[in-house]
Amino acid sequence: MRVIGLMSGTSYDAIEAAAADLELRGEALVMRPLGHLSTPYPDGLRDLIASSLPPAEATMRTVARLDTGIGQAFADVAVRALRELCGGRADLVVSHGQTMYHWVEDGAVRGTLQLGRPAWIAEATGLPVVSDLRANDVAAGGQGAPLVAMTDVLALAALPGVPAALNLGGIANITVVAPGTEPLAFDTGPANALMDAAVRHFTGGAAQYDQDGRRAGAGRVDPALLRVLLDDAYYGRPAPKSTGKEHFHLPYLLEALAAAPVATPDDVLATLAALTAVTVADACRAHGVTRLIVSGGGARNPVLMRMIAEELPGVGLGSSDELGLPYDAKEALAFALLGFLTVNGLPGAIPSGTGARRASLLGSITPGREPLRLPEPADRPPRVLRITGGR
Ligand SMILES: Nc1ncnc2c1ncn2[C@@H]1O[C@H](COP(=O)(O)OP(=O)(O)O)[C@@H](O)[C@H]1O
Ligand SMILES: [Mg+2]
Repeated sequence: MRVIGLMSGTSYDAIEAAAADLELRGEALVMRPLGHLSTPYPDGLRDLIASSLPPAEATMRTVARLDTGIGQAFADVAVRALRELCGGRADLVVSHGQTMYHWVEDGAVRGTLQLGRPAWIAEATGLPVVSDLRANDVAAGGQGAPLVAMTDVLALAALPGVPAALNLGGIANITVVAPGTEPLAFDTGPANALMDAAVRHFTGGAAQYDQDGRRAGAGRVDPALLRVLLDDAYYGRPAPKSTGKEHFHLPYLLEALAAAPVATPDDVLATLAALTAVTVADACRAHGVTRLIVSGGGARNPVLMRMIAEELPGVGLGSSDELGLPYDAKEALAFALLGFLTVNGLPGAIPSGTGARRASLLGSITPGREPLRLPEPADRPPRVLRITGGR
């Protein structure tokens, strides 16, 4: 089955598309990646997303504009992916949409809102669309996150020791696969969220992120600010847990800076990179991780990567590319995989990661131009992800 996965994370920098041929062969889920592409959000839409995210309040008119605008932007990318990656032929689109609100109260997730109406994608491509993948897990008492865990668990299954996969998006999430125990997956805290917020703030919006970690690299970690930031109760809370930009946003950072003033913006950036490195390393140490496979935009920040390496001597650090999952396409491929599981009647959630009562079938299905025809449900779930002849 040829599947297109569409993803935009909490950084809302770009819509990522990845396509793959997927097939169940006994214990293995065989994936042949067909390539990926990334399209920045149109400026107006990105500004609308930025001005609507918490702690801002949004009207229902704004929600409708976002739902349509994001849906149309995803549809444009899906059409490009169909043409450029799939030779014009695919069976399914899987769309994560854009998270606009991940509603956490006392550690429990009450709801999670991804916008980007799938009807636009179905209309533009003619293909059925699986979307809204987090909702079923939330309804089953889970965090609805991290959903990339299924791909991580299948991809790490063959590795020795205690391997873990780390994605450095706006938020950092980790999946740990230790032999003889259920897999663990949770958000460790902010990856780029606060760094991006700081850069936008210090440059008056002229820059969106700390390119190649230049500012963090030129700054010095401020121990007092780091202590204030590490004081957040989130880090001490046991998994399952998830977080988002409802919590880690600019006013949050400004409050920390008020408690521990730092005069030099580059020092703030260095301290925020250290915050990510320390919280990631704490999570790795707590679970005995021996090898850490990194993906996401933060993998392109050499200062952040160096700090993580320094925090974790003896832990092998690598990129998800080594597993055949390009570091910048892993999440889009992971969602393609989840939609594929859904239409084959297989659960995509991992309850030991999300904390749900059971492993749910994920998502809502929007029909394409043809009547909806689903494969016969598979008789057993895959145990391992095998990646073949990608390009
Ligand atoms: N060259 C780079 N140097 C430093 N940071 C980078 C670089 N490229 C991307 N990033 C960071 O990665 C983020 C996007 O990562 P991504 O994996 O797309 O996150 P998300 O899934 O939250 O959208 C950017 O906002 C930026 O902070
Ligand atoms: Mg992104």
